[in-house]
Amino acid sequence: MKFLITGGAGYIGTNLANYLLLNNHQVVVLDNLELGNKSLVPQKAKLHINDLRNKKEVEKIFSESKIDAVFHLAAYSSVQESMKIPGKYFNNNIISTVNLLETMVKFNVKCLIFSSSAAVYGNPQKYSVNEECPLSPNNVYGQTKKIIEEMLDWYDRIYNIKFVSLRYFNAAGADYGVGEKRKNETHLIPLAIKTALKEKEYLTVFGNNYPTKDGTAIRDYVHITDISKAHLLSFNYLKKNEKSQIINLGSGLGKSVSEIVDLVKKINNSDFKIRIENRRSGDPIVLVANYFKAKKILGWEPERDIKEIIKSAYDWHKSQLQ
Ligand SMILES: NC(=O)c1ccc[n+]([C@@H]2O[C@H](COP(=O)([O-])OP(=O)(O)OC[C@H]3O[C@@H](n4cnc5c(N)ncnc54)[C@H](O)[C@@H]3O)[C@@H](O)[C@H]2O)c1
Repeated sequence: MKFLITGGAGYIGTNLANYLLLNNHQVVVLDNLELGNKSLVPQKAKLHINDLRNKKEVEKIFSESKIDAVFHLAAYSSVQESMKIPGKYFNNNIISTVNLLETMVKFNVKCLIFSSSAAVYGNPQKYSVNEECPLSPNNVYGQTKKIIEEMLDWYDRIYNIKFVSLRYFNAAGADYGVGEKRKNETHLIPLAIKTALKEKEYLTVFGNNYPTKDGTAIRDYVHITDISKAHLLSFNYLKKNEKSQIINLGSGLGKSVSEIVDLVKKINNSDFKIRIENRRSGDPIVLVANYFKAKKILGWEPERDIKEIIKSAYDWHKSQLQ
């Protein structure tokens, strides 16, 4: 099969490209490299350096290659930035997706796997959320994902484009020599590791007065290769069933910020400085997945636990220092 990965030079996209190539598929990557790394895109993938908001360029890619399905990862995804510059998020995330969907209609491509997010749930009332929980994003980033899921439903009804929207919880870890390499890192695990490895003086923890067991916020982490695996399973599902689905991807296990920090300290066998700041606007207290639907529909289960996730990320960061 020939797959298009939008955002395929980003953190999850490069892992997905490797995973699909290893499973004997062809990969075309579309990325403007604003946040991605050209050097991490596998050689065997065909890279187009273009912006999804440039519809003519997107159409050119579809006219040059017969695409069987699209994995749509390209987006801005910083919760904090989305609360400061909302227009940037509505502009990129929504317009990019409209252009992509219109191009898929034009070139008769009927299969899409979308990178959604647990941010669509906002601040859920339950400890662990399933796909039926009410959607109430509490940040602009999550709102863009909710709008896109609604758009996908209309493109399914009107044009018969079938989709799986994968609501990732927190992607983490490294594989295939690729880890989290962002110009402006905001994610906890890479930041904690960078602090442990003395690339940063201290780690900022936002809020230690949440109503949780240790006062810090709780999240659910999944290894990126487990996420990539779910993409291919989603494509196989759509080929067989032709029915759109929305599916959570999480481990079902919540880890607090303090627990993650302790695990990183243990792996590095050292202590490091923590600075406590106020809670950030848009940060939920607890976000943990119920992944029963992923198991039932895709036959997917996370294979790597939090220790393996952090160890793989730690080893990769260390390898970057040499
Ligand atoms: N990382 C996570 O924990 C997480 C959790 C939930 C959902 N997601 C979603 O998964 C997707 C991938 O996340 P990531 O962590 O790999 O992010 P990333 O920032 O590393 O990758 C995104 C890629 O998209 C590209 N891009 C953005 N806008 C573009 C445009 N208009 N045209 C072309 N390329 C564009 C960027 O250059 C970048 O390479 C995103 O949609 C994100 O919202 C990520």
